[in-house]
Amino acid sequence: MAKKTPTQRSVKWFGREDIYGFIYRSWVKNRGVPQDQFDGRPVIGICNTYSELTPCNTHFRVIAEHVRAGVLEAGGFPLEFPVMSLGETLLRPTAMLYRNLASMDVEESIRGNPLDGVVLLVGCDKTTPSLLMGAASVDLPAIAVSGGPMLSGKYRGTDIGSGTNVWSMSEDLRAGKITMDEFHEAESCMHRSHGHCMTMGTASTMASMVEALGVGMPGNAAIPAVDARRNVLARAAGRRIVQMVKENLSLSKILTKKAFENAIRVNAAIGGSTNAVIHLIAIARRIGVDLKLRDWDRCGRGVHTLVNLMPSGKYLMEDFYYAGGLPAVIRELGEARLLHKDALTVNGQTIWANNKDAPCWNRDVVHSFSRPFKKNTGIAVLHGNLCPDGAIIKPSAATPKLMKHRGRAVVFENIEDLHKRIDDPGLDIDEKCVMVLKNCGPKGYPGMAEVGNMPLPPKILKKGITDMVRISDARMSGTAYGTVVLHVAPEAAAGGALALVENGDLIELDVAQRRLQLLVSPAILRSRRKRWKAPKPPLARGYWKLYFDHVLQASEGADLDFLVGGSGPIVPRDNH
Ligand code: FES
Repeated sequence: MAKKTPTQRSVKWFGREDIYGFIYRSWVKNRGVPQDQFDGRPVIGICNTYSELTPCNTHFRVIAEHVRAGVLEAGGFPLEFPVMSLGETLLRPTAMLYRNLASMDVEESIRGNPLDGVVLLVGCDKTTPSLLMGAASVDLPAIAVSGGPMLSGKYRGTDIGSGTNVWSMSEDLRAGKITMDEFHEAESCMHRSHGHCMTMGTASTMASMVEALGVGMPGNAAIPAVDARRNVLARAAGRRIVQMVKENLSLSKILTKKAFENAIRVNAAIGGSTNAVIHLIAIARRIGVDLKLRDWDRCGRGVHTLVNLMPSGKYLMEDFYYAGGLPAVIRELGEARLLHKDALTVNGQTIWANNKDAPCWNRDVVHSFSRPFKKNTGIAVLHGNLCPDGAIIKPSAATPKLMKHRGRAVVFENIEDLHKRIDDPGLDIDEKCVMVLKNCGPKGYPGMAEVGNMPLPPKILKKGITDMVRISDARMSGTAYGTVVLHVAPEAAAGGALALVENGDLIELDVAQRRLQLLVSPAILRSRRKRWKAPKPPLARGYWKLYFDHVLQASEGADLDFLVGGSGPIVPRDNH
């Protein structure tokens, strides 16, 4: 019999010599598993988010097979299982509405089954945080394996990036600069291989967070989905998780405050998605780490963007991998004393041991810290009477001259109001105005959709202006850009000051001072508040109702209040 370790929950299923042992083993044998697999070897779950409804994860059956091979090679017993998969492009009203639901699926699937460790197959945006949140609440040994980015988009001799060029081409279409035929042609050119978005959008950011947090194998972030080395990484993860069970190396030993601080700095250095702010806070709170919005500002200050990738720059993830990938970035941060070098990672080494000798092959893609791509670009956390619990802006994607700006508010009450009026030539707006969008936060949308990067009115675009200050309680796609203030908390639907903004109010943004002020007197705001009515839940039953009643604000990770924390790897009662 293989040597059992303290975390081996599976023995309480498969090691039994009674009727329950018969039940637990016998049904597993129905696909040809021999008795000798129940000798106490680590049982490894392969948590798969394969779904044809999640186009970014449709190669995950292949990745799962490579993980399985690795587990078997290391003497483990692999058992693959599906969980709810969240596809960013098809799922409505927004995949974020279901992140917490999927995390519950992951948590209960792991805890309720005879698993000693788990490999999490993650890819499209929300599949990464949902699986990490669920696994964190169980706290078994776990490794996340990202599916990898698509190959670079190629359109008429130029590189085009997921999302980023969708926004720019849709603006070009609205401004009459390209035809509908060209628009259709670009659709086929943009997404031409398996994998997730190949800009530094949310999926690539979260894959980088996996590596920076230490919950993924070195190199996890950037290997293209269709590169054979992605499968090698999956196989290595399969081998390693078996050892992690034997070492009792559970997630809480990896996901420490230091690991999160490293990840925040890496996010700044890669020009990463603002969505990482919400997801990392939510993951941290599941594992008992006290990560706050202010930690993002504190740790991100003084960090430069080193990576010249869309949407902040011009290259794509394939270029990033060939230039050295995330290890080259982590090395730069370490040499600049911006890394907790002793943070432990899943391969049993510290993050510094993994990355200290990482080469860089192209300094136009990965800049050095001494000659950065953009300076001081960590995510800025704003406060003021418009966002008493905070709001964020991504300086690397913003227009420098708009970072200090005072303008007249043009208010859209919800997303339908925006769509109805934005193309109206009679809309009273100019480029100095501040666009304000309400009721798109966690409760308001519901699910906090990625609509914060509001399209500009055609009459502004036709002047050749491509950016304005925009403010909302929504999120923004990691592939988007602009001087966009996001995640205003409390949101309008929760009675935040955003709900009280009216057309013509003056708003002042000062990113250097971290201020966002609504220049309206307290007395007027009090009288407006008396007239404000709280919205009703969009659906009065089911998950939407549960979500509406329990979702926390963006500043707290937008988790459901009763999911914060974990219940550990307890073994539930027998099922018969
Ligand atoms: Fe899946 Fe962008 S749509 S990662």
